[in-house]
Amino acid sequence: MKKPKPVSGFSKLSKRGKIRWLAENFFSNPEDVARELKSFWYGDPQKQKIFDDFSENTISNYYLPYGLVPNVSVNDTLYCVPMVTEESSVVAAASSAAKFWLSRGGFKAEIVSTKKVGQVHFDWSGDISKLRQVFSALKEHIHQETDHITCNMRKRGGGISDIELIDMTDLEDNYYQLKMTFETCDSMGANFINSTLEESSRVLRNFMAEQPHFTDEERKVTIIMAILSNYTPECMVRASVECPVEDLGTFDSGKMDAKTFAYKFEKAIKIAHIDVHRATTHNKGIFNGIDAVAMATGNDFRAIESCGHTYAARDGKYRSLSYAKVEDGIFKFWLDIPLAIGTVGGLTNLHPLAKRSLEMLNKPTADELMSIIAVTGLAQNFAAVRSLVTTGIQKGHMKMHLMNILNHLEASEKEALEALSYFKDKLVSFTAVREFLNLLRKPSVKNIPKVIYKK
Ligand code: MEV
Repeated sequence: MKKPKPVSGFSKLSKRGKIRWLAENFFSNPEDVARELKSFWYGDPQKQKIFDDFSENTISNYYLPYGLVPNVSVNDTLYCVPMVTEESSVVAAASSAAKFWLSRGGFKAEIVSTKKVGQVHFDWSGDISKLRQVFSALKEHIHQETDHITCNMRKRGGGISDIELIDMTDLEDNYYQLKMTFETCDSMGANFINSTLEESSRVLRNFMAEQPHFTDEERKVTIIMAILSNYTPECMVRASVECPVEDLGTFDSGKMDAKTFAYKFEKAIKIAHIDVHRATTHNKGIFNGIDAVAMATGNDFRAIESCGHTYAARDGKYRSLSYAKVEDGIFKFWLDIPLAIGTVGGLTNLHPLAKRSLEMLNKPTADELMSIIAVTGLAQNFAAVRSLVTTGIQKGHMKMHLMNILNHLEASEKEALEALSYFKDKLVSFTAVREFLNLLRKPSVKNIPKVIYKK
């Protein structure tokens, strides 16, 4: 790699200019690199502009596979769920779990609550009882003075639902919060919440400055910051499945019966509740599903993940987000997950494929999409744990793993077919596949005797 030099005014360069700068400064084959980057541009410049404008300093598009999981029954409605993921086997696993539960009553989902949270963090020193006395007047003021921001949301049934004063001075000198809760209807609501919070901090500062019974010191408030919290434990959905144990059928080509499966499955979930190493991998499997649908529908998967992981550690120890129980002969498996998502605003209507995703899901409300996403997380988790307690995870992964290695080694269609058949009952590794292809690519065995004969 060439030694990079600092650059100024980079953002002002045109897209082609940025590519040229990158290619010339970081690559020994600038023309090839520039051509490759441009080859991923959208054919239609108008559409490309939509993508360019999502972010900054954009030079090309980074493609990820967009796949489908059919047969997902949520509260007796059948969905075809779109997923964006680069990980092989994720879509296949979700599809297989969806099909498994389709014939066993399908998935259920229930919205527990939909509250979002925002905070104004401020520094204040004074007599807290005085502040408490005027707090309901302050709340009234905040409602009135933010009306221009909240009126449309209120018309749709949302808005500010509560404002609390939180005294944090036992943890940090002079530290208080306005903790505000919001309903944001079908939008994720990040911009709405942040605008309302910033306006509320101005109202707080002005309100305090005008209090006649406050000392000069008490009239001063230092706003530290105002921002939504991605931790939304009260924006919660429960996804679940259940069936009589005997209806689970058999596993691993009939080698494992339903009772053994249910026992091992329940134990595996318990382990993910008590062991942090397992819990992390277990929840990663859940987010394999959740993130992929969040991405496909233009939702913020980082917000969703950070919230989910915080929730998983809510009692001070990081634990599984899903639960399983066998009770009176019934196998029950469920997932409680906070999901702050939207079906309007943000990328949901701007990204052409996010828009299509929502169309194929029948233009869901935010509550419906919360249900679909949670169910996909549960399906993904079911498929992973089912594999783990029966055949092991590698069996299912092997075909995809093999295909990836074959692609990497540029195997032809004929070579790939031969490899698939050869490795059906053998351990797949990069070395084994390379050796297999090397053998296959050697001059045919028929020629060898001729050569030997000549000698
Ligand atoms: C791999 O991406 C996810 C799994 O490891 C999840 C799990 O172990 O439960 C298969």
